[in-house]
Amino acid sequence: MATNRTPIMAGNWKMFKTPADTTAFFDEFKPLVASATHCEIVICPPFIDIPAAVQAVEGARIEIGGQNLYWEKEGAFTGEISGPMLAAAGARWVIIGHSERRQYFGETDETVLKRTKAALEHGLKPIVCVGEHLDEREAGKTEQVLVAQFQGGLAGLTAEEFARVTIAYEPVWAIGTGRTATPEIASEAHKVIRAEVAKKFGGEAAAAVRILYGGSVKPANVKELMAQEEIDGTLVGGASLKADSFAAIVNFHR
Ligand code: PGA
Repeated sequence: MATNRTPIMAGNWKMFKTPADTTAFFDEFKPLVASATHCEIVICPPFIDIPAAVQAVEGARIEIGGQNLYWEKEGAFTGEISGPMLAAAGARWVIIGHSERRQYFGETDETVLKRTKAALEHGLKPIVCVGEHLDEREAGKTEQVLVAQFQGGLAGLTAEEFARVTIAYEPVWAIGTGRTATPEIASEAHKVIRAEVAKKFGGEAAAAVRILYGGSVKPANVKELMAQEEIDGTLVGGASLKADSFAAIVNFHR
């Protein structure tokens, strides 16, 4: 963790929890992180839980995000949620291009770019996910995949837009598998991404952008991950569903 970049500890609840579960989570979680001022705390619940989450975090240093958005403001797009809708509901962040969206819902680098631009246009802070599959890593193609994802997606932003983006590196083979990238593997990948940022947007942008690691982050491994200068926070799935485990991740420095 570099001293000039404030860490972000973000939870991605995926398709878990009802509004009542959400309220119960925050009742337990808020006191556990009440003194955490060293990082930004973000929870991205399912859309239907956002109002309950926003209400629960009122007055706390916790912000709420969506897990996706559609790029049009409104219209005949059955099943979709737009940026203005998320913002009006009190969401401040949005995850874009998660590997599960890419794998199951046809997300591409091109649609990632469209969604990222839409999020920024409506004042939401995008967390844009990139990462390689196991076969790509084993074929020695990790760098190539990360560069292509960056080139096809984030490189299409203006410098002003890019300055408001957070990147999450999530090796697909480490998501929900219990198999975490070692801090060194994660660091290497973060360096590749940061170098691309430097090439496209310059050294200052590269030094400022926060790159989160995601993939089987747990209380037991968060400390060593966060000890890496390249890792500016975490995007946590499974271990963000329980208040005590996510609080232990947020409080990694203790
Ligand atoms: P995991 O998921 O922490 O359950 O591996 C991470 C993610 O998909 O964001």
